[in-house]
Formats: sequence, structure tokens, C-alpha cells
Amino acid sequence: MPERDCAIAVKTTPTKWVPETMHLELTHGDARQFGEALLHFRHDLHTRPMFDDAGLAALLDAYPRERLGVFTMGEDPVDWRSWRCGRAGDLTGADLLAGVHAGRIWLNLRAANDHVPAYAELADEMFGAKEAAVPGLRTFKRDLGVLISSPDAQVFYHLDTPLVSLWQIRGEKTVRVYDRAASFVEPRQIEGVVLRETAEQLPFDPAWDSQAATQVLQPGMMVTWPQNAPHRITNGPMVNVSLSLEFMTPAALLRANVIYTNGLLRRRLGWTPAIQTAPDPRALVKFGAARVAKALKINKEHGHILKPAFRLDARQPGELLGL
Ligand SMILES: [Fe+2]
Repeated sequence: MPERDCAIAVKTTPTKWVPETMHLELTHGDARQFGEALLHFRHDLHTRPMFDDAGLAALLDAYPRERLGVFTMGEDPVDWRSWRCGRAGDLTGADLLAGVHAGRIWLNLRAANDHVPAYAELADEMFGAKEAAVPGLRTFKRDLGVLISSPDAQVFYHLDTPLVSLWQIRGEKTVRVYDRAASFVEPRQIEGVVLRETAEQLPFDPAWDSQAATQVLQPGMMVTWPQNAPHRITNGPMVNVSLSLEFMTPAALLRANVIYTNGLLRRRLGWTPAIQTAPDPRALVKFGAARVAKALKINKEHGHILKPAFRLDARQPGELLGL
């Protein structure tokens, strides 16, 4: 596979070494299958000093504290109800990082590109490189999330509405991606996520792991998987830092809206609709119907906001206190 240099300039400062370009290279898969197949890439973002402990502590101090996702979870991959949300309070970025090192915590800085200028620049660079690496790719609704998580932490079996790519920066994690077939996830369940009826987490059977595409992500690796494919993630025995890009493409936005309409048809009319893609005219009709339904607020979104269940202890890193 030819290496694709993305030659995107990054501002340099006199005090800090910053690479002048980032590299992104497809290492496995067919770029024409982007969004529909599992693709692997190599990148070099993990070499940047912005991701060392001092850089992450500064990021945690700069990111709006009220938006910071703080979570903990149990060890059983089936027990998704053990996923709990907490409060970071006024802990410093360095304190939070110490908690990640010592405890079982998952920090999620969603849309860091909307709140921290350095990450806005980074997102532009990453999406630019991604579009350069995949001919014809056009992305929008761009969200760069930063995931800072404890040794052995996990994210349970779930699926996401937009396209996702996961860029490993520090540590090692295992990503398992499962087929979108009904044997792993029912159409009604995918629709439930798109309609925001339920939490994104789904019932899981460990026997499915034998049929999953399993990849151990190491620093410098990136993976992207088919839209709405169920997946789960398990950290190795070390602190992990990953970047999560969520985004839409025209095809992804069409699919999400077709599923949205399918969900309404199934729930309100008892239909068992299939997912069509362009240029099938039924897809465009469903796309239009979804836009109208959203404008008219026909579907009542239940949301899935967890109530905070713990707070972090400033004096004992990684310890969880009751509220
Ligand atoms: Fe996900």
C-alpha cells in the first residue's frame, strides 16, 4: 500500500519540538470500503509531547470541567450496568491523572476540538489527513474526543450512530468489532440507539468474541470500523490514551436517517423495514421523512444521562467516594 504523506503544516513554537507534518498510512483494508469495512492505519501522533502527563494535565485543566465525562466500571464484560458516572469536582488535571494511574477510571473529553484551541487545530489536521488518505472522503459533524483511562478499564459492548475511528496514543488496548448482523444486534436495537431511546450499551454474550474482528491497538495504530458495528474495548494493564474521531459522511448521514425512519415505522406502524442505501430512491424518501419527523419532534428522545454516583478523592488518587 503506498504511503500517503499528508504534509499538513503544524505551527511550531521556539520552546517545544512539534512535528511539521503528520503521517497517516493505510496498512490493512481497501480505502474504497471506508465506512463499510474494518480498516487499519498507521499514524505518528503518539510521538507528540502534548500527550505526555504534563500535556494531559494541562488539557484536563483547560477543558470545561462540567463537560468532563468521569466513569468507572466493573470487570465482567457482560455487566454493562456496572458503568457508572462520577464527578471530578475541583481536582486539578494532575490529580485527575494520578487517579487514572491508580484507579479504575475512564475519562472522556468529548468534542475537545470545540473547547481547547490546540485540539481544534489537531482535529483539523487529523480530519485533513483522513480525507487525504481515503479518496473522495468528505467528513462533517466532526468530534475529536480524548480518552484517558486506567489500566484494565473497559468499555462495554455498544454501538455508535456516527462513524468512529480510534487512534492509539499511549498504552495498549484490545478492540473487538462484531458484525452488524442480527445474530449480534437486532435492527430494533440499532434503531433504538439512533432514536436515542436507550443507552448505547447492549446485551452481550462472550461466546460472540470468537467471531469478532480483534485488534490489539498499540501507539501509532488507528482503526475505523463499519458504521453502527457493535464493538467493545479492553485496556491492557497500563494507562491508555486514545483519540476518538466521530463524524459523518454523506453516506453515513443517509444511513443514520434511514435507520431513524425505520425505527419510527417499526414502532408506530409495526413494519419490519430494511436499510436501503443510495441510489435506492426509498433511502432518499426515508432521509426526507426523518428530517421532517425531527423537525416536528415526532420522536420523544429519552436520552441516556446517567446520574452521578461517585466523586473522586483528591487525597487518595483513584479512590471513589459516595456523593
Ligand atoms: Fe464506541
